Amino acid sequence: MTQTEHTVALVTGATGGLGTHMVKRLLDDGYRVIANYRSPEKAEAWLKEMQAEGYEPAMYQADVADYEEVGAMVKRIQEEIGVIDILVNNAGITRDSAFRRMTPESWDIVLKTNLYSVFNCCHHVIEPMVDQHYGRIINISSVNGQRAQFGQVNYAAAKAGMHGFTKTLAVEVARKGITVNTISPGYIATDMVMAVAEEVRAQIIKGIPMGRLGGTGEIAHLVSFLASEEAAFITGANYAINGGQHVH
Ligand code: CAA
Repeated sequence: MTQTEHTVALVTGATGGLGTHMVKRLLDDGYRVIANYRSPEKAEAWLKEMQAEGYEPAMYQADVADYEEVGAMVKRIQEEIGVIDILVNNAGITRDSAFRRMTPESWDIVLKTNLYSVFNCCHHVIEPMVDQHYGRIINISSVNGQRAQFGQVNYAAAKAGMHGFTKTLAVEVARKGITVNTISPGYIATDMVMAVAEEVRAQIIKGIPMGRLGGTGEIAHLVSFLASEEAAFITGANYAINGGQHVH
């Protein structure tokens, strides 16, 4: 890649299926990658696997749903590594159920983890990005923020909310050297998708014109592109990457 002095990349929810591949790809690209995680137990095993493959991300714990925790994490990163040049808001969870069965708790945790987290992380990284007149913010949304998916009122609301957030923040910081974009993956072969009942998943795959799930590397490739300095004129955009499942 054509590398610059802007080398520090933070990936939230790094230990998940999409996050893992993003971390590897950004390390391969030559960035100093910070892997954010929530659960120390999972992160410890994950880091061992990464190291066995020759990858050395820096590890920083914070629940991205918590504004104060994110603030403390960003402060430590800035002191120990430097200003965050690239932020990938990737952390996300599902708590699927039909709306009539959906609990206030599952609404709350999905909105806080998937959408409030984007505010929390952006709000803490934005001033240093403005000061250095450079930044790349990449928000990982979903095809299900663009279309209906039975059982995902909470998830769809959070993922759709990211679009309004991205477009508005993009225009607010467009003159500050910062780009803000959304990626909307379709169904990708991750644990999150594999958790969907097999018969339901088979039905979903039938509805994907390419007839297959996406690969985590395909999303990481797009992250790498949007993170690059050459992507400077792309902002407020949404990149759908869903095998043709939703075209509009
Ligand atoms: N369309 C229409 N009706 C449906 C339906 C569908 N897709 N699925 C279920 N129903 C019906 C049921 O038949 C049932 O009807 P009756 O009451 O008349 O019997 C009613 O809706 C309610 O059913 P249940 O509450 O019992 O729901 P369920 O247990 O059958 O299934 C569910 C609910 C768990 C949400 C299931 O539909 C499901 O897993 N759906 C897939 C959700 C999904 O795609 N999640 C994506 C996870 S991966 C991800 O999110 C990553 C990403 O970004 C893409």
